[in-house]
Amino acid sequence: MEAHWRGRGYTVPNAAVYPHQWLWDSCFHAVIWAHLGRPERAVAELRSALAHQHDDGFVPHMTYWEHPDMHAAFWGRPTTSTITQPPMYGHAIAELARRGVEVDSSLVRQAVAGLAFLVGPRRGDRELVPIVHPWESGCDDSPRWDRWAGSERSAQRWYERKGELVESLDLSPSGSALANPSFEVEAAGFNALVAFNAMELAAVGFHDQLPFAVEPLIDALDRRWDPLLATWLDDRDATPAPRTLEALLPVLVTGSIERVAAVMTELRDPDAFGGRCGPAQVHRGEPSFEPRAYWRGPAWPQLTYLFWVAAARHGRRDDAAWLARALRSGAERSGWAEYWDPDDGTGLGAVPQSWSALAAAVAPS
Ligand code: GLC
Repeated sequence: MEAHWRGRGYTVPNAAVYPHQWLWDSCFHAVIWAHLGRPERAVAELRSALAHQHDDGFVPHMTYWEHPDMHAAFWGRPTTSTITQPPMYGHAIAELARRGVEVDSSLVRQAVAGLAFLVGPRRGDRELVPIVHPWESGCDDSPRWDRWAGSERSAQRWYERKGELVESLDLSPSGSALANPSFEVEAAGFNALVAFNAMELAAVGFHDQLPFAVEPLIDALDRRWDPLLATWLDDRDATPAPRTLEALLPVLVTGSIERVAAVMTELRDPDAFGGRCGPAQVHRGEPSFEPRAYWRGPAWPQLTYLFWVAAARHGRRDDAAWLARALRSGAERSGWAEYWDPDDGTGLGAVPQSWSALAAAVAPS
């Protein structure tokens, strides 16, 4: 973490592969810095992640601090992207508050405005908030998005397709992504994180500041539970997407103890998502499951961490201890990688990657 810290007040995910600032990574970094006893870095990291927030509340998912023109032609403007990522800043602020760190009111206002943008202008008159680009999910190459890939999906073709899906974004005059005629998904995982981050702010005393009610989002998610597949669906009327881990994130906000139990069983079942180094990102019964391919089967530390949070909040001590052990074991075996083989912890992607230090944030089992 020290080697990845940059003086402008953020942590790079990896110095060579990811030398810029990413929104949800930075929120997880803030949690890590708080646990490592560096609250001033946690606060600085949140401040820099929210530094280019638009007046309408939209928060860009990337900031190219050192090279503002690097992808200016791609995004149509310098310095930041025009899409967002899961709004984990609510959880990060709550974690700081729980640790007794003074979080100033301007940061809280920014977090509230970020969530209000999503639930307001981005959602429009829908039940749930659409993501308008696969990158907004944080789970870029998840098999959930395969139906947008065309019949000849390959990693290269999908990479190009993601570029085309940036071109088709509908932007507000200030450059906030509002819609996308070619990709709009009321993703269960993303919406779970919107609701969870709002609940986190409410839980630490900022309830009065939220200009929207969270319950309708949770109710809408609850209506999308499929008991046979044991997953939440993005769209009740479409053919279900392959079962992927991020679609189980509504476990963070559901009030149903039966669903919590069903999710925990799936997470630990070695024929479903279970792996000794953390839940696999794709259900092992899916044809798309590949334990070492980017977003198509490996364990991801930030997702394992979120399920650990869910287990702990629901009082599932044994599941929380199992998830904590898996996360620590995967982080150590992988050399603190971006993601890893869920069974043997072989490090994959960028190594080392900052968010693997979430292993330090889970209580010893
Ligand atoms: C990859 C991941 C994304 C993450 C970024 C930086 O693009 O898919 O979720 O934010 O790397 O770590």
